[in-house]
Parts: sequence; structure tokens; C-alpha cells
Amino acid sequence: MQTKEITEVTEAQIAVHWQEEEYYYPSIEFIAQANMTDESIHERFSLDNFPECFKEYADLLTWDKYWHTTLDTSDAPSWKWFVGGRLNVSYNCIDRHLEKYQNKAAIIYVPEPEEETQQVLTYRELYVRVNEMAALLRDFCGLQTGDRVTIHMPMTPELPITMLACARLGLIHSVVFGGFSGKACGERIADSGSKVLVTMDSYYRNGKLLDHREKADVAVQIAANDGMEVEKVLVWQRYPGEYHSENPMVEERDFFVNDVLKNYRGARVEPVSLPAEAPLFLMYTSGTTGRPKGCQHSTGGYLAYAAGTSKYIQDIHPEDVYWCMADIGWITGHSYIVYGPLALAASSVMYEGVPTFPDAGRAWRIAERLNVNIFHTAPTTIRMLRKAGPDEPEKYNYRFKHMTTVGEPIEPEVWRWYYEVVGRGEAAIVDTWWQTETGGFLCSTMPGFQPMKPGSAGPAVPGIHPIIYDDEGNEVPTGSNVAGNICIQNPWPGAFQTIWGDRERYVKQYYERYCKNPESKDWRDWPYLTGDAAVQAPDGYYRILGRIDDVINVAGHRLGTKELESACLVVPQVAEASVVPVADDLKGKVPDIYISLKPNVEPSREVEDAVVAAIVDNIGKIARPKHVYIVPDMPKTRSGKIMRRVLASISNGTDIGDVTTLANPEIVETIRKMVQGEEEVDFFG
Ligand code: WT7
Repeated sequence: MQTKEITEVTEAQIAVHWQEEEYYYPSIEFIAQANMTDESIHERFSLDNFPECFKEYADLLTWDKYWHTTLDTSDAPSWKWFVGGRLNVSYNCIDRHLEKYQNKAAIIYVPEPEEETQQVLTYRELYVRVNEMAALLRDFCGLQTGDRVTIHMPMTPELPITMLACARLGLIHSVVFGGFSGKACGERIADSGSKVLVTMDSYYRNGKLLDHREKADVAVQIAANDGMEVEKVLVWQRYPGEYHSENPMVEERDFFVNDVLKNYRGARVEPVSLPAEAPLFLMYTSGTTGRPKGCQHSTGGYLAYAAGTSKYIQDIHPEDVYWCMADIGWITGHSYIVYGPLALAASSVMYEGVPTFPDAGRAWRIAERLNVNIFHTAPTTIRMLRKAGPDEPEKYNYRFKHMTTVGEPIEPEVWRWYYEVVGRGEAAIVDTWWQTETGGFLCSTMPGFQPMKPGSAGPAVPGIHPIIYDDEGNEVPTGSNVAGNICIQNPWPGAFQTIWGDRERYVKQYYERYCKNPESKDWRDWPYLTGDAAVQAPDGYYRILGRIDDVINVAGHRLGTKELESACLVVPQVAEASVVPVADDLKGKVPDIYISLKPNVEPSREVEDAVVAAIVDNIGKIARPKHVYIVPDMPKTRSGKIMRRVLASISNGTDIGDVTTLANPEIVETIRKMVQGEEEVDFFG
């Protein structure tokens, strides 16, 4: 018998076993008020009407100069939308609402400590504060249109104020999630070439006022090692006038924003009129190689797409109180806390802290107090709230008309709790599938006229035309429930423009695999590879199975296995590291780490701890592994490739499959016993 060498199979090839779920229909009340109940929208946005259909989204914005070309493909696959048009994002999110809504809440901020009252920023107040901050960035920092600014901040109103101030001037912001380490921030400063870092001294998380400013010193140092000198560090104070950090301010480099702003009181800054394709921001995300990549998003296309999807899929009306409980440091927060909702003159709620602080009723108390009627969160949070207080929602008097789940697949069981208990069987749910790169939703039901199906993201949203390919590039038959690599056939306005400073990687990673002709300027030749595996049911609904590349999705946040592995290798005793996703009740997936040690090094608890510390230092607490296993050797193919898939099966207790053709098959059983051994799972634990 011929033995075939084992190679790593993709997620797409993993069999799927689940049953079809029943439909749930939106209520009459929801339909009666929905922004979109016209089923012909999918027809209007069909491929026959592409790309002109997206005029409908562009027309939600106010243009200084109207555009002449809907889609320019001459630089394929970097697509240019609404070419010839000029606009300003801060104008679209603030100024244009003033006449009608100046006194309406734009941002409602809820601090974590319950005794601190919420703050309401009206559109007028947002206008004043964004103008003053823009004046400071321009005149005090000397920043000019096109310069990058890294913002490493927690969830406080000063974060969107800073973002919108950047947008007013055409500065490209790069917001780094506040929970990330100083080192992760420093790498992103260096990659983006930011001369200015905006941060905050401290913030509340789980009842503790954390020192955040200390990370800035690490960040500046890391950036300097990489050749990027940060000129100014702007430090907002969580409590103006008080400084809560162990690290002293650095003279000539660090400035308290609240102090400097006094010189700009009442300043007004004319919004800079920018070409539609000018970059608005960078959002770093993990890829298959160690280095995070800066997804570059545009001004006109991005805002049009964020506004359009916020209106028709989030069903936001100006009268609604909309609460997306994500962090603005992720793309969800950019598109669906800040830019989309504000472009529609909504009232957007921001919460500083942990959803279960000080108890499992907190989220529902906020909803009750503010009369929130649209609620948006991730499966990981839903699982956490369900575990911490399954009956809590009933105790509070709120009423949601619409709820969103985003970031990872949601188990039908959890979906039903969300629907029945949180949404009281009244709220329409959208399960929105998309990515940092895509700027806005790709798949979701249209809440006003398409039924929900637990565990399925739904059909593609208007103007998005997915196609599922197998590994050989054959199209998987439509509606066949056969798994494959889901791609998008056509460009859309929200799509990122490139990877900052690395177009080659952009083309290679997202377009090369199924490209029909690399010379082509026709978008039909450039399907976009999402990196997810999916199946499509006969009713057209897509179910997302997970990533096909080496990315672990922890609690809706994406971590590159390579990034984690390189952090492990920082520990001097570690020879090899392999990181695999392991199922976790709350977070969906968490990393399990396998390491082998250098010769003559004995396994010890210290090494395990050092690996965990390295992960937390280099990436952040979010990446904290579930276990660290010190193994005598890694299972490898004969070509020396570590078989992650085998390790993942061991961690998850699933079928390991045939390993006889490995270079060292005997190691598999040794590791399995070590990990699954009856007595102890974590053998130093
Ligand atoms: C990856 C993108 C989109 C904002 C949050 C995450 C997974 C996202 C869903 C969903 C199943 C989902 C995919 C995707 N994902 N939404 N509704 N159902 N999986 O953004 O960090 O760029 O991660 O998250 O695997 O590729 P991101």
C-alpha cells in the first residue's frame, strides 16, 4: 500500500455535523418601523447593477464635490470608489447634523464605577471638543494631512473625540486596542510611522483604576528601537487635573491634553476637504506571519458603507438609543460605535468597563437607565452574561427592538438565550459576519424582511456576492452545504485599500489564491479571499466555520498563531513553540501552547510561567493561554513541518486520525497521555 505523507488539512475539509435550525421571524412592530422592508434591495444591488448600485450608500453622505466615477479598477486589486468626490468625515459625522440635532446626544458615556454618573456629549459639544482637539493636533503638534497618529486609549469619550479630530484634518489615525501591551503599541507606532502617540493616564477595569500611561514609555522605546522617534506623547487624564500613573511624565515629550487644550478654547478648524480615496485610518490585525498588518481604510467608500449598513442592517434611526458594547479599539467599534452611527445622527452609547462589573445585572441596568433599544455585542460576551446571570435580564425594565451578534459563530443554544431572555422574543437579531479588512458587514439577514436562523450569519448583505471555492479552485455548488473557502466575487466600498506599506502582501494574502489573471484590471478576475471556511445551505444562508489560516479567534479578537509562537520563543529555554486553538465555553477559542525545550533544559513550572509572561508582555492579557505543555518533541511531517492539527486534536479531545506517516509518530501518544491523562491536565498545575 502506498503511504501518502500527511500534510495539514484546512478547516474547510473538516466535516460539519449539525442540524438545520428553525426560522424566527421579525415582529410586526419591528417591521413597521424598519428602515428597509423593500425586498427589491437585493435586486437593485445585484451583480447586473454593480457597481452603480452603491450610489444609494454614497448618497447618505454630504459631498463637498460630487464624484464622477463609481469604481475605478485601474490599479487592481486596489479599488478606488467614488473617484473625483471630496468630503470630510468629521463634517459628515458632526457638522451637518448641527442644524437639526445640535442639542441631541451624540455620545452617551457610561463610566465603569456605578457611582460616577454618565456623561452626555451633544452634537454641539462634540463639535466644540473635536474642533479644539483638531486645533491642538494641527498647531501644537504641527501635524499635517496624511500624517499618522497612533491612539492607544481606553473606552472614554476622548477616544472618539481624538479620532474625529484626526479625521477633520485628514490625519490617518491608528487606534490600538487599550488592552494591548506597550510593546504591541510600539510596533504599530513604528510600522505606521506615527510621530505622535495619544494615550490616557488610567482607566477603570473590573473595579480597579489601571495605570495605562506606563505602557507609553515601553511603546516609545520599542518604536525608537525600530527607528521611529515619537516626538510627542499626548496624555489625556481620566480625571482632569489628577494623574494616576506610577511613571513620571517625560519633559518636552509628554503633555497633558487637558492643559494644552486650554490654549485652544473656542478654536474652530475648517474640515479639510479630502478625496474620497484618501486614507481615513489604519487598523492593525493579525496575519499569518508574525508582523501585524495595518489595514488601510478609505474616507468616502468606508464612510458610505459604514453608514449604509448602519442604517439598513443595524436599523439605526436618529431617535434610537444605540449601544454597541464592543471596544472602539477594534473595527467593530470604529464602524459601529463611531463612524456609522454618528454619520446617521444616532445617539451612541459607550461603556468604559467590564459587562459583568460589579455584577451580572450591570449591562441590563445600563440598558434600562438609558432606554437603549438597539444592542450589539459578541457571542463571547453573551456566553459570559448567560453564565453569570441567566435570569438577570428579566429583572430590568428595558426593551430592545434589535440586537446584533458579531465576531465569531454563535451556538444555536446561546442564540436562543439571547433571543428569548435578553431580547424577550421581540427583538430582531442580526448575526453579522465580516472582518477588519471589510470595513462593514458581509453577511447578515436584513432584519425587516428576512427570517433569522440561529447559528447562521444569513445570506450576503446587499451588494456582496460570495462564492465558495474548494482547495483546487472549483466553485462549490450553491446551496450544497459543502464546506469550502468563502470569497467575495466583487469589490465593495467598505473594503480596505491595501496593507499599509506592503501592497505585495495585500495582493498575495487576499487576492492571489483565486486570481484568474494577475494582469487583469477587471474586478471579475479578482475574488477576495476572506480566509474563512463556510457552507451555504439550500436557503442561501451561510454558516461560517472558522479560519482557514493560522489565526485564532479569541473572544472575537483575532490572534495570529505565529505572533504567539514568536512571543514564546523570547523565553531563552524554549526551542520550539506551537500554538493551537482550543474550545472554551466562554471565549469560543483560546490558545493552548506546546513548547519543546532546548537541550539540557529541564521542564519546570518557571518555564511555563515565563512563557505566559512573555505572551502577556508581548501581546496582552487577551492572549493568555489556557495551558502551556512542555513536550519532549513536536509531532512533525517528514519535511519537518510541525503538525498543529494533531496538537489541536489532542487539546480538544477530538479524533487524531492517522499519524503513522509522521516522522515521529510515537510522540503523538506521549503527548496525548500528557495532555489528556486522567489525573492531571496541566501536569505542573
Ligand atoms: C473574523 C474576523 C468583524 C468584527 C469582529 C472581528 C470571524 C466575524 C463572525 C460571525 C462567524 C465570524 C471570522 C472572521 N467572524 N464575525 N458573525 N460568525 N464568524 O473582526 O478580528 O477582523 O475577525 O472573525 O472568522 O474572518 P476580525
